[in-house]
Amino acid sequence: MIDDTTSPDFPRTMPAHPASSPGTDTWYNPHMHRSPRRTSGLLFASTAAALVVAAVAGTAPAAAAPGDPFRPAMHYTPARNWMNDPNGLVYHNGRYHLFYQHNPSGPGWANMSWGHAVSTDLRTWREQPIAIRGDRDAEIYSGSAVVDHRNTSGFGTAGNPPMVAIYTARYRSGRQAQSLAYSTDDGRTWTKYRGNPVLDRGSTNFRDPKVFWYSTDGSGGYWVMTAVEALDRKVVLYRSDDLLTWRPLSEFGPGSDYRGIWECPDLFPLPVDGNPGRTKWVLVVSHNPATVDVLPPVPDISPRLLKGTGTRYFVGDFDGTRFTADGPPRFVDDGRDFYAGVTFNDAPANKRIMMAWMSNWLYAQQTPTGRWRGAMTLPRELSLRTVAGRPTLISEPIAGQGRTVYSQRDVAVGPDDVTLPVRPRAYRVHAEFRPGTARRFGLTVHKSADGAERTRISYDVAAGTLSVDRTRSGNVLFGPVFPSVESVRVPLRDGKLSLDVYVDASSVEAFAQGGSHTITDLVFPNPASNDISVDSAGGQARLDSLTVTATD
Ligand code: FRU
Repeated sequence: MIDDTTSPDFPRTMPAHPASSPGTDTWYNPHMHRSPRRTSGLLFASTAAALVVAAVAGTAPAAAAPGDPFRPAMHYTPARNWMNDPNGLVYHNGRYHLFYQHNPSGPGWANMSWGHAVSTDLRTWREQPIAIRGDRDAEIYSGSAVVDHRNTSGFGTAGNPPMVAIYTARYRSGRQAQSLAYSTDDGRTWTKYRGNPVLDRGSTNFRDPKVFWYSTDGSGGYWVMTAVEALDRKVVLYRSDDLLTWRPLSEFGPGSDYRGIWECPDLFPLPVDGNPGRTKWVLVVSHNPATVDVLPPVPDISPRLLKGTGTRYFVGDFDGTRFTADGPPRFVDDGRDFYAGVTFNDAPANKRIMMAWMSNWLYAQQTPTGRWRGAMTLPRELSLRTVAGRPTLISEPIAGQGRTVYSQRDVAVGPDDVTLPVRPRAYRVHAEFRPGTARRFGLTVHKSADGAERTRISYDVAAGTLSVDRTRSGNVLFGPVFPSVESVRVPLRDGKLSLDVYVDASSVEAFAQGGSHTITDLVFPNPASNDISVDSAGGQARLDSLTVTATD
């Protein structure tokens, strides 16, 4: 979201609701060629040690909820109405809290308030009453939450430390300033602080405060806030002893390589390669190149800008005052639908867990989901691993165990594509591929019986790139830039590509090589398009292993 006054190309009003009620949608089937559907007999072209290691189960397609075909099974969505950024991610007294940008009264972006859900395991979420409601004075934009263990704010007591939310109040005048609300009943009810705002620069684009406790030697420390001056493409850092009064520390930016705006920063330390003696800091910033709303594609706009919104990160150092980057930013996720990613405060065992909003401002308000709109990505545990000589963010999804419904080992793939005999509604596919003689190999999911509708996750051997192709993934016509192919360079490791793909009713999240590369994309397939197939082109690839785990 961008400033109301300076960004006229951003849709401020709810667009006409797309003709999206299930049954009346036009499913996009431009290519009606047929591909063989083979679900029995010999599954793979080569029999070399083909081995079914698990019973095939769940072959009947699980039904989508009537009238709600895109509601995910393993991703958080509000029961009704609009959701964007995750806010206030914090763990407290055995529960993970997910607050989020929410319109309590409609499926379009408006009336910003903080919705709320809780979970004990990051897998199943229970929606709670609205936590912080926008009012006539101000809307409640993005921010963070802390547990004020030392009761520095005085909102609680030593025995019952308060939860404190630090959010952006977006006033009717357009001014954006940082404000507080607190809860002394484990996040059930929230009170806005009377002295709001607590930090005001007189700016109309100062927002998205992420606050964390910065420990110094022994038991000392102070609160650090990162926020953005969005249009200036700057992260501004402040410190406080009590969350009430703030003084400036430093600034990071402005970004020079980019035309868009910066939003939703986060800053946290991580050990490199698991070595606690070698810590680097990661600064996450979401980028919103709102200037490219005017598509179809213009030749001189780089593919990066066509991507719309995305979350990037810098690796560097933070000395308690200033962040310095070791190099340019990289994408946390190379798909289209991973925005406003931020991490939990106080997660158990020092884990660093990120969630992001699974959408893109380029078309977020048009997605054809009906009475609800907006889903979160799977939570992902982050770590730093040295890849090609530099610390690289690794993302590992957190999802339920599920049950294995199909498994194969050591088989050849190709030349025909082979449809698996299982069709779970939500699932993970784990595949270990070797290219063999193939030019391209991969998986197809959300595939219709005639093969015309499909989402392809494939590897181009010569280019060394992994792609997710959603150009024929179902309903792709609700937004002009929705049909797309996302690609990222993924070097083979020991001659292999390891792939984990999480497939839900309206999304695909692909994790390659253990999470060093990820692609997250929304898709809106016909619920009957639920075949999974494996294929190669130009030769035979090999699958060391293939496992399908139902997660719904
Ligand atoms: C990011 C964002 C934030 C803002 C919020 C408003 O998607 O634009 O910068 O606080 O959404 O809903």
